[in-house]
Amino acid sequence: MDVQVTSLTDLMVIEHARIQEMLEEVNISSYEDKMRALECFNRFKLNIEKHFMIEERAIVQLLNNISGIEVNDTFRLMEEQGGIISMIKKVEDDIAQGDYSKIQDLMTMLEDHSEFENQTFYPNLDKKLSDDRKKEIIEKVSAMIRSG
Ligand SMILES: [Fe+2]
Repeated sequence: MDVQVTSLTDLMVIEHARIQEMLEEVNISSYEDKMRALECFNRFKLNIEKHFMIEERAIVQLLNNISGIEVNDTFRLMEEQGGIISMIKKVEDDIAQGDYSKIQDLMTMLEDHSEFENQTFYPNLDKKLSDDRKKEIIEKVSAMIRSG
């Protein structure tokens, strides 16, 4: 990450856009050929799995130490991630069969999830964290994003 970000929200907005773009590419390539669509899907899948892992390891686990974060919000985040993972499995099987009909549903699901994180979850977290703690988490998350 070359851009210097000062909030978790900014950092994650960039990440969410990057992942959404990868799914857009799956959608576009599905009009070209199946192998390319599968390749793009694989790249998307690896990246989103890593993204969810980062969110769980670097962020959700930290919430135990931060008072005032809505339990409901954390629960919603984890539940939506589970739903997206199941949908990814379905779409992956479908693409292998040449069926691209659920890509659009997955895109909408991901958009809604990212919107909740970008507009509610991370802004709340940014408000609760001290500047030092925020800097520490941003550095940790950025390093995780950069690593292969
Ligand atoms: Fe996210």
